[in-house]
Amino acid sequence: MARLSQELIDQVRQSVDIADVISQDVQLQRQGKNLVGHCPFHEDNTPSFSVSEQKQFFYCFSCHRSGSVFDFLMELHHLSFPQAVEQVAKLGSVTLPSDFQANDEARQSQAPDSQQSQLIKLHQTAMRLYHHILMNTPAGEPARRYLKKRGLTQELIDQFNLGYAPKEEVLKVVLEKEGHDYQLLRRSGLFTENRDGSLHDRFFDRVMFPLKDGQGRPVAFSGRLLQKSADSPKYLNSPETPIFNKRRLIFNFDLAKKAARENGKLLLFEGYMDVISAYGAGVLNGIASMGTSLTDEQLSMIVKTTNQLDICYDGDAPGQNAIERALKLIEASPVANQLRLRVVQLPTGQDPDEYIQQNGGARFREYLKNTEETPTAFRLRYLRQGLNLSNQAELLSYLNAAIGVIAKVSDPVARDVYIQQLAKEFQLSPQNLQQQLAVQVKKQPPVAVPNPTPPGEQWSDDSAVISGRRPFNGSQGQRYGRYNRKKHQATAQPAPQAVVLTASEQQSLALDQTERAERLLLVAVLHDYGVRAQLKAMPDFDFIHDQYRHLYQLALNYFTEHDEYELASFLDYVDDPALKATLTQLDGLDAQAALSPEAIDDCLRIIMQKTPLTQKIAQVKLSLQEAKARSNQELITQLTVELIELYGQKQRLKTEETS
Ligand code: GTP
Ligand code: MN
Repeated sequence: MARLSQELIDQVRQSVDIADVISQDVQLQRQGKNLVGHCPFHEDNTPSFSVSEQKQFFYCFSCHRSGSVFDFLMELHHLSFPQAVEQVAKLGSVTLPSDFQANDEARQSQAPDSQQSQLIKLHQTAMRLYHHILMNTPAGEPARRYLKKRGLTQELIDQFNLGYAPKEEVLKVVLEKEGHDYQLLRRSGLFTENRDGSLHDRFFDRVMFPLKDGQGRPVAFSGRLLQKSADSPKYLNSPETPIFNKRRLIFNFDLAKKAARENGKLLLFEGYMDVISAYGAGVLNGIASMGTSLTDEQLSMIVKTTNQLDICYDGDAPGQNAIERALKLIEASPVANQLRLRVVQLPTGQDPDEYIQQNGGARFREYLKNTEETPTAFRLRYLRQGLNLSNQAELLSYLNAAIGVIAKVSDPVARDVYIQQLAKEFQLSPQNLQQQLAVQVKKQPPVAVPNPTPPGEQWSDDSAVISGRRPFNGSQGQRYGRYNRKKHQATAQPAPQAVVLTASEQQSLALDQTERAERLLLVAVLHDYGVRAQLKAMPDFDFIHDQYRHLYQLALNYFTEHDEYELASFLDYVDDPALKATLTQLDGLDAQAALSPEAIDDCLRIIMQKTPLTQKIAQVKLSLQEAKARSNQELITQLTVELIELYGQKQRLKTEETS
């Protein structure tokens, strides 16, 4: 057996980043200059294992193991030194001398391995060819225009190695000229085979998206039509091959996992275009499956990288359903306990790509930051879909369903927060809802989980899933997973017990959503200086109903002379007995805590939607005059568009009224 020169060993070591190799086994997260994680060599409750990219070595503060990438593989996977070198060489695509064999096993598996690297080389050639045709040839012109129209920069096209497969056959010609083995070409998936065994390019007249493995090597393609067609799928994928397993491929995983180490999470999108646009917008941790639900294999790759996954889908009804499906699937998967899930739902009818094209990258990043919610918060919204909550029966059934959702949250503090929110929103007594919750919580199966692992059966969204994480102990995760799935099937939803309301709650339920929002906001105005300041900074804002508008005006007067709200002294400012009654009622309903900023925003949104059109039009007109005076061209265009839209709405309302 040939010995490897020190030079070649160095070359092999330098061909990979130790962090990439180790993160196949250990979940690493950025901490200053180093990456840290739980040591894979022993039970490690605090992350004592650190990896230095700069020095390309690892060290455990607890067991004091340390070394290079070779040491890591030798120790963890019980390899000899030559075996470790061979494995790293494979990862880094370094060719070792043909007479070098790490052991007998390697000799046996040498044939398939070399086939694997040959197949990858074919894909690299194809990727370069398609990219060249896209960027530099007249045939690529329509595809170039298409991608430009969709807002893709040259930089993004290069980053993702996008390409174009022209109408004519090119790949076969090029690869045959290079003299590749027929069987290898057949197996590559890059060709279709005729009855007579002749091969033809699989992809033609399509924009080519290379699908890369975790090391960033192209292993397959997805080709997109430039225009819709009735008789051809929008995306055509490579078939499964020795190097391409759909269940294991995650689009952009190679780049996203690096980003996830920095910011602690991955972001799941529905489509490739979403991932690419997000990347262009500086959101580097986006991934997508191949348009299908996540598989257990993909999920296990994800939890090796991070313990938080954000699901970022469209805001329309199918998008919401897709989010709910994805949540359910992940919650029933073997890794449920190792992932904290969050939902980011985009405005109705926009996918992330469209949102970015319309609003720009900065707004998108803001949006991600501000609208991330827990699965429970999402579900509480999701359950409202299509309900008319000013109808009492529908509201009651919503409340019951909502309590059912909250009952599944494992953390009692989180449960309480949701109940408080629900109570506040509908002006109900929290105690009443708490009682109902207690009944439902009791119906939850007992928590049969040893150790600090969060309960498997219950939705683990709200508890920080940190303590029980064992990224490299798959068997434990799987056990809970199976437990999960069985239980989910076994427990039929119990018939919800009716929420019983007090008289004053019933009265407040009779109010419509707008009025409830107004009342909540008014209470907040009275008790919270911050909310008063917020409203004062919004010249467009006003209450809809006269009584609340009056009370608001009176409150503003009151606070010019008082710092604190006190019902008795405020009543002196109010003459109208009806207003006095309303005020007293409000005080009884909810005098204690300040509303969360999100709840305030919700109220504002509900109220602003109802602000009469004419008033809105007047406001936009005013702003337009101002913009014109300042020659702010961008704002002028924006406001004009807004104005036209408002006139359109008014016109539609008129026709509805007259017809
Ligand atoms: P654009 O339509 O160009 O914006 O692409 P997109 O990525 O947004 O696609 P879309 O939201 O329609 O679909 C989401 C994902 O589903 C895609 O990225 C593909 O992975 C997959 N997909 C969509 N259409 C097809 C198809 O016709 N065949 C296959 N195999 N997959 C598809
Ligand atoms: Mn799209």
